[in-house]
Amino acid sequence: MTDSLATVQTIDDLRLAVREARLAGKKIGCVPTMGALHDGHISLVEAARRETDFVVVTIFVNPTQFGPNEDLAKYPRPLEADLDKCRAAGVDLVFNPDVESVYPSGDATFVEVPGLSEVLEGAHRPGHFRGVTTIVLKLFNMVLPDVAFFGQKDYQQQLLIRHLVDDLNVAVEIRTCPTIREPDGLAMSSRNAYLSPEERQTALALSQALKIAEQSLCDERQSPVEARVRMIEHLTSIPGLVLDYATVADAYSLKELDEASGEMVALIAARVGTTRLIDNLPISLRLPV
Ligand code: PAF
Repeated sequence: MTDSLATVQTIDDLRLAVREARLAGKKIGCVPTMGALHDGHISLVEAARRETDFVVVTIFVNPTQFGPNEDLAKYPRPLEADLDKCRAAGVDLVFNPDVESVYPSGDATFVEVPGLSEVLEGAHRPGHFRGVTTIVLKLFNMVLPDVAFFGQKDYQQQLLIRHLVDDLNVAVEIRTCPTIREPDGLAMSSRNAYLSPEERQTALALSQALKIAEQSLCDERQSPVEARVRMIEHLTSIPGLVLDYATVADAYSLKELDEASGEMVALIAARVGTTRLIDNLPISLRLPV
């Protein structure tokens, strides 16, 4: 295998490399990440490789999306292992800037998507999405990709990014790729690395509860209220799990549903030990006509 992976740290070097690729007629794909790459990230790279000709992975642990009591300092940063994974996956360029290059003048300007950024994750992690939308717009302005790839695992995040891009006329197409799961159902996440073997077992309750909601809504034709109750019953019966929320919402507005609609999403956030986990399952219902 030829080692064609280039890495750049500065915005100037990034722009130079991307400009060269574009001049060579290549379509630019971007996979924004915070590193600690797993198969979920690699599936985004694979999607980017299928659709574009020059794949840029950004690795940047973005401080503005972490709350004061969150895990910024201990967030995993296995750069060498990440670079190996990028190389093996056929990434063309890795951009891993330092905090000073990304936020040279402090935290002066932010972009925010009101409403949607204040519910669910936004309600539990004030300021989180402001940090996400700001860094994503900054990365788009730095990389200038044609297409950017995000995971459905962060369901609310990808919705917000779609709003950001529409509202501000950002010339990038957004792709949302399916959640990648371990064989036992656990959604892949960089934060799974924090779980002890016992906690990892406990964490399976999230994907189990989502399946319960799906069965309740699709097979038993129960209402979202009933599906929600059944998810909550399951999750609160598990020792060692502290539930933040479990809900069935409209797939686009994220408004909690009392009655079934065509496109729904079940969403859960819970803490297992000191690790906060999220998961979701989009649920489509073919309603009788
Ligand atoms: O999903 C993530 O890893 C991060 O929120 C993102 C999109 C890379 C922004 O820092």
